[in-house]
Amino acid sequence: MVMQSTVIPLAYLISAVLFILGIKRLSHPATAAGGNRLAALGMLLAIAATLLDQQVLSYTWVVAGMAAGGLIGLTMARTVKMTAMPEMVAVFNGFGGAASGLVAIGEYLRLQTGAGQAAISVDQGVSIMAGTLIGAVTFSGSIIAWGKLQGFVSGKAISNPLVRILATLLALGSLGTAGWLVAAQGADSQTAMFWALVAGGLALGVLFVLPIGGADMPVVVALLNSYSGIAASAAGFVLNNYGLVISGALVGASGLILTGIMCRAMNRSLTNVLFSAFGTTGAASGSQDSGDKVATPVDAEDSAMLLGYASQVVFVPGYGLAVAQAQHRIRELADLLTKRGVRVRYCVHPVAGRMPGHMNVLLAEANVPYDQLCEPDDVNPDMEQVDVAVVVGANDVVNPLARDDAGSPIAGMPIIETDRARSCIVIKRSLSVGYAGIDNPLFYLPNNRMYFGDAAEALGDIASEVKQL
Ligand code: TAP
Repeated sequence: MVMQSTVIPLAYLISAVLFILGIKRLSHPATAAGGNRLAALGMLLAIAATLLDQQVLSYTWVVAGMAAGGLIGLTMARTVKMTAMPEMVAVFNGFGGAASGLVAIGEYLRLQTGAGQAAISVDQGVSIMAGTLIGAVTFSGSIIAWGKLQGFVSGKAISNPLVRILATLLALGSLGTAGWLVAAQGADSQTAMFWALVAGGLALGVLFVLPIGGADMPVVVALLNSYSGIAASAAGFVLNNYGLVISGALVGASGLILTGIMCRAMNRSLTNVLFSAFGTTGAASGSQDSGDKVATPVDAEDSAMLLGYASQVVFVPGYGLAVAQAQHRIRELADLLTKRGVRVRYCVHPVAGRMPGHMNVLLAEANVPYDQLCEPDDVNPDMEQVDVAVVVGANDVVNPLARDDAGSPIAGMPIIETDRARSCIVIKRSLSVGYAGIDNPLFYLPNNRMYFGDAAEALGDIASEVKQL
């Protein structure tokens, strides 16, 4: 009895505090691993408390489920490529949504069959319907997002307004059905309507994500992450489990904050991301000579001369660094330059790559010193003092059109202004466009040189030449 009334809520409270401290520590690379461990400890405590609280009769299924799930999770986390991280997060969100939805469905069926008619109170009903609907939307939406990122589902944005109209009607219909089911208080005759709500939620998730372009999926995944948290919170109310309510609310809030940060860093509103059919798969034009504009190529030897005799160098990593897995090579070159007395910094744009913190994770993997990491605002004001800016597999985040052309699709997006450096070297395989699908005038500026090649090979070749200086 004491266990029920004191120990269990206290355990949930401690695990919630551990989650919050864990999230706080995730905000800096130096403390992030410790933060992750704290949050994991909180989760272990919450699971132990739940198992004791619910007085599980047979632990066989629980242990078997934990062992199987743990093994699958461990294998996925160990084998996933850094570039495929958004896909994995999308799948995990889907599972989270499905789990919460199943809890709500199970509770509805249990209450309905177990206690007869008029057994489900209004507050129970609201939690159950919210958990069911949000869980179903999160599950099917995440599976479509995963398919788009993986290439199973077309990444093309759909601008046909009919899809939106259908989705709006379905959303209104689902909300109406959920309200009606709450009012019906679990009457036996309403079971078919309940299953219709489940089907409506699943269809709504598909219609919500399908029209959005594949390139915008990382933002959608962050939003679905928030939904999975809200669904978990609703499941917490269904089960009267404070731990689930709190952890779900934390996920819901942090997913929403992350979505906001991503939209701000791209200078786009959430409505624009969700409804503007932006980022169709955008075919890239890949020549090395674009009309009358000519990009000046550079080789490893000349790049090494520029870098080896510079006093300030700024590296700007982008999506291509992740594709080439060139994080160790960039560190090696930077170390060589530092040894020569060059001041080296890595300037990381908040939306470089394809997921939040993408570049930070890669650079941390290569043990790049934290004091060499900086943000655009640290470098832009003094960009004229930078002797060489080296853009490694980045494109949109250094595109001057964002600053200079109000009509550009990326107008207003903050950029790293490498075009204002004394000289700039862009390492990429061709003149192809990046995520936003637009040409980059930086490539044709007189102070810019193009190093055509894979980022890892290019950095390795330049490093070999620097050693010869
Ligand atoms: P992008 O603009 O996408 O450009 C990446 C460039 O990398 C490409 O132009 C490609 O050119 C080059 N590349 C690919 N493989 C390479 C390799 N092996 N070696 C060298 N270069 C390679 O990347 P960015 O500058 O990092 O900008 C990120 C974009 O993604 C932004 O538009 C941002 O809004 C968007 N976005 C980001 C996020 C987050 S959270 N990070 C979320 C959603 C959208 P080549 O083909 O010529 O090599």
